[in-house]
Amino acid sequence: MKFTGTENYVATQDLMLSVNAAITLQRPLLVKGEPGTGKTLLAEEVAGALGMPLLQWHIKSTTKAQQGLYEYDAVSRLRDSQLSDIEGGERVRDINNYIVKGVLWQAFTAEQPVALLIDEIDKADIEFPNDLLREIDRMEFYCYETRELIRAKYRPLVFITSNNEKELPDAFLRRCFFHYIKFPDAATMQRIVDVHFPGLKSELVSAAMKTFFAVRGLPGLKKKPSTSELLDWLKLLLAEDIPLEALHSKDESTAVPPLIGALLKNEQDVTLFEKLMFMQRHNR
Ligand SMILES: Nc1ncnc2c1ncn2[C@@H]1O[C@H](COP(=O)(O)OP(=O)(O)OP(=O)(O)O)[C@@H](O)[C@H]1O
Ligand SMILES: [Mg+2]
Repeated sequence: MKFTGTENYVATQDLMLSVNAAITLQRPLLVKGEPGTGKTLLAEEVAGALGMPLLQWHIKSTTKAQQGLYEYDAVSRLRDSQLSDIEGGERVRDINNYIVKGVLWQAFTAEQPVALLIDEIDKADIEFPNDLLREIDRMEFYCYETRELIRAKYRPLVFITSNNEKELPDAFLRRCFFHYIKFPDAATMQRIVDVHFPGLKSELVSAAMKTFFAVRGLPGLKKKPSTSELLDWLKLLLAEDIPLEALHSKDESTAVPPLIGALLKNEQDVTLFEKLMFMQRHNR
């Protein structure tokens, strides 16, 4: 089992190395990086490339670790017990009918090795990662209601993504292999653009890329645009048939490149950018 990138996903050498290290160590791969740098997509692509089904667990601020294991649906059981028909009565007696299996349960009991994505772990409360230590380490947990031990038949390949909104506990970090997806350099970005717009080598794209990296380079920007935003912008420029001149026109009235809203997401950043363009023009 080795990951060597896919047709739809541009993986740098060090990213492939990290994925394979996690596979070898049989430890979760903790992936960090700016929003839109392909963290979630990585899990999908690796699972696809290795021919594994992917189970996804998208974490919210209200998500509890227990939900990934199982939940006991006492309300349904109570309701069923109040229905007097025979079938309902049979059902109520077996507690297994009221155990709702979570993604970890499904991953542990799958008949083949699966990949498991725990997406945006930093959204949950601070206890969440600690509550999953044993499950991730030993790949087993105990179901008290049915008194059974759920143990992984095959260790799932676990991907954990984080946007760094919260620090993760040291004990949790110890159990992971870590990779930071660096923001792609111009050459890598070109490869990513090629993947999404195959065969397109227009001057418009290179001019747009230039503007994009210039925008990212602006000092004091509140939110830097990322890969997915560049792709959105290119898509729009192509769909709207924006002429090349629009990207570097000397006309004052079109100081800002068209559809910049795909890249800059707040008014301070737009103002900053306008100022810079203005200064550049007057220095010429
Ligand atoms: N290396 C890459 N190869 C191909 N496409 C990429 C790559 N990186 C990012 N993309 C594009 O960017 C989009 C966003 O990627 P993804 O959703 O995985 O980002 P993310 O890092 O999970 O972001 P967030 O932190 O906001 O969840 C993808 O759908 C894909 O189109
Ligand atoms: Mg994501």
